[in-house]
Amino acid sequence: MTHKKSPADTCVLVTGGCGFIGSHTVVCLLKQGYQVVIVDDLSNASEKVLDRIDQIVGPEAAERLSFYRADVNDREALECIFDEEPVDCVIHFAGYKAVGESVQKPIEYYSNNIGNTLTLVDAMRDHGVKSIIFSSSATVYGDPDALPLTEESPKKPATNPYGWTKWMIEEILRSLTIADPEWNVVLLRYFNPIGAHPSGLMGEDPKGIPNNLLPYVAQVAVGRRDAVHVFGDDYDTPDGTGVRDYIHVMDLAAGHVAALAWMEGRTGCEVFNLGTGNGTSVLEIIKAFSAACGKELPYVIEPRRAGDVTANWADCTKAKELLGWEARYGIAEMCRDSWNWQSHNPNGYEEEQ
Ligand code: UD1
Repeated sequence: MTHKKSPADTCVLVTGGCGFIGSHTVVCLLKQGYQVVIVDDLSNASEKVLDRIDQIVGPEAAERLSFYRADVNDREALECIFDEEPVDCVIHFAGYKAVGESVQKPIEYYSNNIGNTLTLVDAMRDHGVKSIIFSSSATVYGDPDALPLTEESPKKPATNPYGWTKWMIEEILRSLTIADPEWNVVLLRYFNPIGAHPSGLMGEDPKGIPNNLLPYVAQVAVGRRDAVHVFGDDYDTPDGTGVRDYIHVMDLAAGHVAALAWMEGRTGCEVFNLGTGNGTSVLEIIKAFSAACGKELPYVIEPRRAGDVTANWADCTKAKELLGWEARYGIAEMCRDSWNWQSHNPNGYEEEQ
């Protein structure tokens, strides 16, 4: 039997730990007793997240957190961090994530997302750290032939450079495990993360006009935008609008902690879907959010958005069986927590205008 290290003896380096999913995962890791090192260049995150993490976890757990403001593509900075910190495992979130922008800036997206991953794994290898959890996406399934999606469902061509970076990084990491059997890789394919920390202290804070549905809906609710634009009502779904598997960010964060505990002492490459297994339409989301915020949110029907699929949702049996993990929150709780965050922080982490 392999001897498992306790969380207190395990140091987890989290790239992009100040971002939406990263910050919630850091909170869960600290609550479980892990030592955590965040590497984030704050290019798309606020330093205020660090204070919020401290507030949520309390002073004792906060002592187990260190932060480096650095670009994961900066090899010298990574060298210093790996020399300084006794890293056992890496959770890699850092990357550009705006689908539309990726179409306009493919060089930046490929260079940043793939480049930083290569720099990271090269530095890891040099320091004998060969365990990594990668933040992948259901986008690798493309337009599905059948639902629900299992980990065995085929990967399909991506519809944008952002999607291709997730697609390719999965293959890069898988190749590592073939070349060197000491590598231990977990690819987590997220469905649509929404919600916020139940305290209202942390949540999603997109810069500019949100691309994703939930932050847009939340900004309509708080009066920053006039109406939700519904991209297409002529899909082959019960109400004609797109269907997705929305998952509470706290469930997603817990999925990382479960994966981390499971992978300890293993090698190879394993893929897990992280979703709820339920599909929800755009109109159902607007209705649920309206109930959460106590007012009917206005919406207008627009043409379909290029690159969108009709519907996708996950089969999460594998995560349940192997990781002992399953999503606990439903749509009402996701909308409640999103609204709690948005209404207490109408401008995200920025000060009041
Ligand atoms: C998108 C990305 C996906 C990425 C994920 C990250 C695309 C094609 N896919 O997923 O690669 O991993 O974000 O979170 O962009 N919608 C509206 N109005 C809006 C925004 C969205 O009606 O203002 C609809 C969409 O048409 C879709 C659903 O809401 O049916 C969800 O959209 P979104 O939140 O952008 O997520 P995905 O497109 O599923």
